[in-house]
Amino acid sequence: MDIIIILFIISIIMCVSWLACKDRILGSENQTYKRNQTLDEYLKTQGQTAFEGHSTQLTDEPEFLKNIVKNNNIKHVMEIGFNAGHSSDIFLSNNKNIHVTSFDIGEHAYVQHSKKYIDTTYPGRHELIIGDSTKTIPNYIKNNKHKKFDIIFIDGGHDYNIAKADLMNCRHLAKSSKSIVIMDDTTFPNNKECEWNVGPNRAWKEAKDAGIVKELGSSNEQPCRGYSYGKYSNI
Ligand SMILES: C[S@@+](CC[C@H](N)C(=O)[O-])C[C@H]1O[C@@H](n2cnc3c(N)ncnc32)[C@H](O)[C@@H]1O
Repeated sequence: MDIIIILFIISIIMCVSWLACKDRILGSENQTYKRNQTLDEYLKTQGQTAFEGHSTQLTDEPEFLKNIVKNNNIKHVMEIGFNAGHSSDIFLSNNKNIHVTSFDIGEHAYVQHSKKYIDTTYPGRHELIIGDSTKTIPNYIKNNKHKKFDIIFIDGGHDYNIAKADLMNCRHLAKSSKSIVIMDDTTFPNNKECEWNVGPNRAWKEAKDAGIVKELGSSNEQPCRGYSYGKYSNI
């Protein structure tokens, strides 16, 4: 009889513990991640609410990124510009078979919080390479000679020299005529241009004019906010 009572008490204790923990995955002491929490909800719990511009501030661009990744042939996605992880989150949540490699200079404190969220939500499916992309991308190419990506999203530094280096370097990471390259922060001719558009616009236009990139489309949802996409030619 005693043993039954002891077993009963143990099972009550186990149930209570399970109920207390069931919606939690414990991180470090002050970093608790709740299952089903969105990236923004999690970042808010970490005191992170102000971010550099990102794709989910728009409506057209996240839809485009979602749709382009929802394809069984897509396996490897890369992006320059992880920032707060919003574009990685879009890619990873819309195709469970893909792996994302992000490059970011790591200048924002929230990058590490976002990386933690992405790793907990999509275990083993994301890699973040910290450093200046004008150096980390050539290093990556040297050390990963056969690595190619199906989607290349360029959304890092906006200075002309960086945007141009990123666009040209990523050509070595594209599959012949199959990979899609997306250049963020480009705007249509005659549309309003802001300082962050000047570099990407010029780099993209020069690559098109030189026949390095063949444009397939572009979007300009708001003044100064747009993107273009296409394929690298003659790889
Ligand atoms: C516009 S945000 C990226 C937004 C993100 N792709 C999204 O949509 O959620 C640009 C990011 O690139 C980073 N960055 C700026 N210059 C860079 C460089 N030279 N190399 C790598 N990352 C850079 C910034 O720190 C920032 O995190």
